Parts: sequence; C-alpha cells; structure tokens
Amino acid sequence: MRLARLMKVFVTGPLPAEGRAALAQAADCEVEQWPSDDPIPSKDLEQGVAGAQGLLCRLTDRVDKKILDAAGTSLRVISTLSVGVDHLALDEIKKRGIRVGYTPGVLTDATAELAVSLLLTTCRRLPEAIEEVKNGGWSSWSPLWMCGYGLSQSTVGIVGLGRIGQAIARRLKPFGVQRFLYTGRQPKPQEAAEFQAEFVPLAQLAAESDFIVVACSLTPATRGLCGKDFFQKMKNTAIFINISRRCLGPCTTLVTSRGDVVNQEDLYQALASGQIAAAGLDVTTPEPLPPSHPLLTLKNCVILPHIGSATYKTRNTMSLLAVNNLLAGVRGEPMPSELKL
Ligand code: NDP
Ligand code: DGY
Repeated sequence: MRLARLMKVFVTGPLPAEGRAALAQAADCEVEQWPSDDPIPSKDLEQGVAGAQGLLCRLTDRVDKKILDAAGTSLRVISTLSVGVDHLALDEIKKRGIRVGYTPGVLTDATAELAVSLLLTTCRRLPEAIEEVKNGGWSSWSPLWMCGYGLSQSTVGIVGLGRIGQAIARRLKPFGVQRFLYTGRQPKPQEAAEFQAEFVPLAQLAAESDFIVVACSLTPATRGLCGKDFFQKMKNTAIFINISRRCLGPCTTLVTSRGDVVNQEDLYQALASGQIAAAGLDVTTPEPLPPSHPLLTLKNCVILPHIGSATYKTRNTMSLLAVNNLLAGVRGEPMPSELKL
C-alpha cells in the first residue's frame, strides 16, 4: 500500500492552545513552525515557506512577492491570524491563485470593548489622574481639577461603520450619546438604523463630532484620511480614537509602506497645540513605538500596545479559525472564513 505524501504547512510562531490542538490533529500535514513569539525575519520566512502548501502567518509578517517567489508554486493557501490583511500582497496572491483565510467577526466584541475602554480612559484622563495620586499631585478636591469630557448628550463620529464600528456604536449608545455620524464608501442604511446614524462626508464628521473613532480597514483609499486638514476641522474639545490597522514595524504592512490612515506627525501637532483635546491610540507607527517617541511626552495622548483583540478567549478562537482556514485551504475544501479576492 502506498502512503499519501504529507502536505507541508509553515506556521510563523506559536499558537494559543485551541489552534495548537487542532493543528496537532491534522494527520495529513507535516507542520513546521517558527519557535519564537518574536516576528520571524523575512530570510527565515523565505526558507520556511519554501515548498509549503500552506502558510499560517501573523499580522507582523509581510507576505510580499519575494516571500511568494520563495514559496514556489506549491503554495495553495495563506491563513492570517488577523482580520486585517494589509500585510499581504493581495494582487500577487490573487495572480498566483492562492487562497486567503482571515479571522473576521470572532474578534469584533473584544476589539469594540477595548475601543470603548480606550475612549473612556482618554476622555476622563484616567492615566493622568492615576499618576497624580501616585506622585502626590492630589492636594485637594477642586471644581475643575482633572476634568475631562463625557459621552452624555454628545455626538460620536465613526470612520468605518463595519463590524467593529457597529459594535462600538452599540456599546456607546447606552452612555447617552445624542447623535451618531459615520463615513465609509457608501451609506449603510440598514446597519445605521440601529443607531439612527447619519452618513456624512468626512469633513462634516470631523467638524461636528465630540468623539471620533477610526475603525476602518487600511486600504490605499483610507491612507492619510486623518491628517492636518482633518484635525484642523475638529473641535478643540474633541477626542480622537484610533483602533484601525497601522504600520507594524520595519518589515510589515504593504499598504502602510506608503502611509497610514492617520498621519501621526499631524496628530502630534494637533495635540501639542491644543487643536484637539486628546487622543487614544491602540495602533501606532511603528510598532512597538520607541519609548522616546514625541507622542509619549504628551499628557493628552493615551497609547496602548495594539491589544484590541487581546482576550484569552478571542485569541484562542482566532487561532482555531486560522488553523481551520489553513487546513481547509490545503485540502481544497471550503474555508470557514475566506477572503474574496
Ligand atoms: P469591516 O470590513 O467590517 O469594516 C471595515 C470598515 O472600513 C467598513 O465600514 C468600510 O466601509 C470601512 N472603509 C473601507 N474603505 C473606506 C474608506 N475609503 N473610507 C472610510 N471607510 C472605509 O472590518 P472590521 O470592522 O472587522 O475591522 C476593521 C479594522 O479594524 C481592521 O481592518 C483592522 O485593521 C482593525 N482591527 C484592529 C484591531 C486592534 O487590535 N486594534 C483588532 C481588529 C481589527 P464600508 O462600510 O463603506 O464598507
Ligand atoms: C487584526 O486582527 O487585524 C488586529 O490588528 C489584531 O487582532
């Protein structure tokens, strides 16, 4: 009896338990894995992916033409452990007939929860207040000390009313938000109805919102969306929140190599000059942001280390979905979450 040849799959780092267990059960696959949680250097990725049928990568892996060339014609599927796909050279991938799996939906709740936490942390100045308690700056109660801005009766503008944008609006509504505005590629009356959200041009959203949350995907069209012009239109009392995808370091996103959704230098100027009240960012350029970065000198800027989807449950579910996408892809079966190219 002839034994079927095992299919090679390459995984660019350790996986959470659920994904690991599912992969261990794939008897038809030979799994090779980069052993470290640090991003795999591109030279090692080229070597690892050579001759593989499947690649399971992270958002820190830039899968460009060079990597695809190194993989060769055997590669059938790329499964990314993320909903964002801007680190993948989609045109090249499509040309080669390679399928792409990603993780939409399963991280929506965790990311929306984090976005709301970041918004409240920023508008009520929690890091500053905690610091004052620790460093002796808390001398007495006084009427205007440590005042911030509240959501009640406010206008919230959402850039990108997608899965996560809607989940954020749903969570903010009970805080007494008076009006929701949104922008996107086109109006989405069905989705917007739940929040009576109004579709408006970006400039109007900037001018009329008390809180702006950027939750769009990074594409050539969203690159540079929030720059000097945008911040100049914002109210001096407005809060800017960004959870959208950004450049992740020297060897990462393909779209971002030509710019990001937010122009970080313009944001710095807007915050330092008092043009806007405060900003909360879960994504930065680069990642990690060097501790000496000017944004970190500002009290009105709260920065988190890209932890939107970071709950144990969510990361486990993402890893299981990514493995199931990978296995379906190498086996030529329908994938649970395939990106339409
Ligand atoms: P969706 O595809 O559901 O939503 C993407 C949104 O981007 C849509 O509303 C879309 O608008 C909008 N968009 C696309 N092009 C434009 C444009 N030109 N102008 C304005 N809006 C535009 O994706 P998700 O909600 O699941 O995820 C959104 C992003 O969130 C991801 O791409 C990822 O980068 C980021 N993310 C960040 C995380 C973190 O840890 N910080 C975690 C998870 C995701 P339209 O409605 O018109 O199609
Ligand atoms: C994504 O999935 O794109 C986020 O950036 C991390 O979960």
